Amino acid sequence: MDSSEFFGFLTQRSSVRHYSDTPLSDAEIQYLLDCASTAPTAGNLEAWDVVVVTENEVRFALSAAAYDQEHVAQAPAIVVVCANYIRSMSQYGERGILFAVQDATIACTYIMLAAHAAKLQTCWTGAFDEDAVREILELPQHVRPIALLAVGKGHPPSGLTERMAVDEHIHRESW
Ligand SMILES: Cc1cc2nc3c(=O)[nH]c(=O)nc-3n(C[C@H](O)[C@H](O)[C@H](O)COP(=O)(O)O)c2cc1C
Repeated sequence: MDSSEFFGFLTQRSSVRHYSDTPLSDAEIQYLLDCASTAPTAGNLEAWDVVVVTENEVRFALSAAAYDQEHVAQAPAIVVVCANYIRSMSQYGERGILFAVQDATIACTYIMLAAHAAKLQTCWTGAFDEDAVREILELPQHVRPIALLAVGKGHPPSGLTERMAVDEHIHRESW
């Protein structure tokens, strides 16, 4: 893939909030996680973990925890990407908190793009009640849920999501 193909690949991805009930195969899930595992991480400590949720009951509970966002109940798989604080803090102390969040965020981005490459759709879901998600998934205290990534076969919208002009983000040499 050359750089213009890569740019085209990125611009063709959109968040999808309607899914068919076609389940993901174990091989598809494994592929997504293998891709996540190639992501860069602070000190190569890989301070991220995932909880892969496919059971109806748990997805419905996660949807309720995500303020009733329907796509969380509808998508056949929810990959809950978590920061593992202990793994990063053992080396980096307080800074490890930030590194673990970044590690998890990058891992989630890799999964999202890996899904896109496999013609699967995703919706990164960050609005959720963290305590409720912790309870549903029995997360230990040192683990923070960062994103509920809905993954499945869905229908991408026909138009692409608008963006600010890229120049509005850019400062050169100093702010
Ligand atoms: C940190 C983060 C949190 C998000 N939370 C939600 C969410 O709770 N619900 C939702 O439907 N979409 C959520 N999204 C998806 C964004 O709405 C979406 O990425 C944005 O509107 C751009 O659209 P696109 O993904 O189609 O390019 C989130 C995305 C990010 C990166």
